[in-house]
Parts: sequence; C-alpha cells; structure tokens
Amino acid sequence: MFDKYGRHIHYLRISLTDACNLRCVYCMPEDVTFKPRSELLEDEEILRLVRIFAHLGVDKIRLTGGEPTIRPRLVELVRQIKRVSGIRELAMTTNGILLPELAHPLKMAGLDRVNISLDTLDPHKFHAITRWGHLEDVWAGINAAEAAGLEPIKINSVVTRGFNEEDVVDLARLTLDHPWDVRFIELMPVGGIAEFAQSAVVPSRETRERIEKALGPLQEVAGHDPRDPARPYRLPGAQGRIGFIDSISNPFCAGCTRIRLTADGKLRLCLLHDTEVDLLTPLREGADDETLARIIREAVWEKPWGHGLARNVIPRSRHMSQIGG
Ligand code: GTP
Ligand code: 5AD
Ligand code: SF4
Repeated sequence: MFDKYGRHIHYLRISLTDACNLRCVYCMPEDVTFKPRSELLEDEEILRLVRIFAHLGVDKIRLTGGEPTIRPRLVELVRQIKRVSGIRELAMTTNGILLPELAHPLKMAGLDRVNISLDTLDPHKFHAITRWGHLEDVWAGINAAEAAGLEPIKINSVVTRGFNEEDVVDLARLTLDHPWDVRFIELMPVGGIAEFAQSAVVPSRETRERIEKALGPLQEVAGHDPRDPARPYRLPGAQGRIGFIDSISNPFCAGCTRIRLTADGKLRLCLLHDTEVDLLTPLREGADDETLARIIREAVWEKPWGHGLARNVIPRSRHMSQIGG
C-alpha cells in the first residue's frame, strides 16, 4: 500500500488493550478509565483484519497496548498472527513486567522480539515515573526475554524533565556490557498529559551531550535503516547501541511506514493526528473482506503527511496508552 505522498505503508501496530498494569506519568493521567470488553476487538476480529492487512502488503506487525501482555489468550493470538501468510516479522512493545512467565511461551508461539520500556535504573524514580511499578520486575522481564531469545532487545527510555533526565547516563552505560539497543525518546504531547509533556520535554541534543560528557563520544553506526526512527550510535568499545527518537526536534514523518489499529477497532493513520477510520462497525455489520480492504486502502491513501506539533496542533482524542505509541 502507498499513501498519496508515495510512502510505502507495510508496518501495522496493533493495540491489544487500552489497559495497563502501570500508570506512567507520560502516558496516561492517574484517573484514567478503560474501555469495556465489548467495545474491543475480539481475537477472531483481529485475525480477520490481520489477514486483510497482510493481503494488502503489511509484512511487519508490532503488538502494543496499553500493556499487550495483560490481554487474555495472548500466546494463542500470537501463534495465529504469526501463521498468517505474508507476516514476516512479529514484535511487541511491553513494560516487561509479565515477561518472566510469558517470554518463553511467546517465543515458542512465534514472537520474534520485544522492545521494553525502562526509563531509569533507580528503583525510587522508577516507582515515581510508573506511579506504582517495581524496577526489579522489569529487570527480571529483560533477563527472561534474553533467555528466551526474543532478540535483538531494544530498551525504550522516555526522557522526562524532573523525573529522569540525569538517568540517561546509567541507561546508556548498559550498552557497554549488553548487546541491547537503548533508545532515548523525546516526550510527546498526547491526550491528557499534553500540557505536562510540553513543559517536561528534554531535547535529544541535551540527552546526547549529557551522555557524551560522562561516557565519551558517540560514534555513528553505519547502515542506518531510514525506516527506523532512531539513528544508531555506539560508545567506544560498547556491545550495544544507543539511539535517539526525536519526534519533536527532528521529525521522521517523511520515512514513515506505519499505521495503527486501536484496541477498539479504529485505523489510526498517524500517531500524532486524531484522524481515524472505523473498522469495527463495518466488521460487525457484516462487511465482506473486499469492502474492508477497500476502506483500508482508501484510508491509507489519505494518511496525513506529518505531525503539526511545531504549529501547536496536539492530538487530544486519545491518551498514548489508547494508541500504543
Ligand atoms: P522497531 O520495530 O524496533 O523499530 O520499533 P519501533 O521503534 O517502531 O516501536 P516502539 O514501540 O519501540 O516505539 C518506540 C518509540 O517511538 C515510542 O515512544 C513510540 O511512541 C515512538 N514512535 C513509534 N512510532 C512512531 C511514529 O510513527 N511517530 C512518532 N512520532 N513516534 C513514534
Ligand atoms: N511520549 C513519548 N513516548 C511515549 N511512550 C508512552 N508515552 C509517551 C509519550 N508521551 C512510549 C513508551 C513505550 C512506547 C510504546 O511509547 O515508553 O516505549
Ligand atoms: Fe503502561 Fe506503557 Fe503506558 Fe507505562 S507507557 S502506562 S507501561 S502503556
């Protein structure tokens, strides 16, 4: 599938639930409420849409949330998605907490790899950022993912002023001894935390300077895939890599290959645009595959060019947790 700007769209992010077992300050307000089960796509509905998307050329799927690992029957759903013809890569973005029990079964079911969110190595700060999480649970999850072979492992660290801007050095240091990609993400204003996000964003340039001052110069790694939002760097002698996802200071919309399916069955064309196309209603009203494929193709054609954050156009219709990043 192509959009009207000629971008090749082949990467689908599927949010499996809007709920989560944490409450990260940059993701959702504390008093968030979740959607009732009846408004969310059933497993069979997700599978039917995946087959249609695959037929239209989607070959990479990432499962997101909320927190995808809290969805019931997740392992079986992963097995079924991986079986769909044309799906080359199946990955997941998770907070890692449930990976100690799930990493191995997920790998066996066909999950290729995981990206795990971790914003600090300080247990007290971790608790403050997630509003109630325990760092050792995530650490156990990362170890379980590695033991299960869900590799390469990527660590996502959202940098939030007043919470963890100094912690980037310890996180970057992890790459010295581990073959992980640690990626620092600029805080994006979305939904109920938009005002907070605007006051707490830390530009990637500042994060990079902080890391280089403490650990030495970052060397650019050759062979950057332009579809990857993070350009990779390496500390001298490090096993792993460091990246920066600078949606605010260095938008990568021109190379975007993504679309998103929300847990309540809407096709979201851009993370940072509220434009969505309803797939749940036609699906439940009995539309055939051809009709659904036409709705998807036409929606993708109209994918917005890029975000308007610089012009203060802020997506408000959903929290980040209801989109899946
Ligand atoms: P890989 O397949 O490993 O490259 O994963 P990914 O970077 O596509 O996925 P992940 O869920 O790990 O996303 C990392 C960060 O990038 C999250 O904070 C997302 O919110 C952000 N992100 C992902 N996709 C987009 C996008 O299309 N636009 C913007 N602005 N940010 C995005
Ligand atoms: N800005 C940037 N990234 C965010 N994430 C969640 N909320 C935000 C935000 N406001 C990240 C999480 C996770 C991914 C799915 O999205 O850290 O890695
Ligand atoms: Fe949950 Fe991830 Fe959002 Fe944190 S960022 S509240 S772990 S969905």
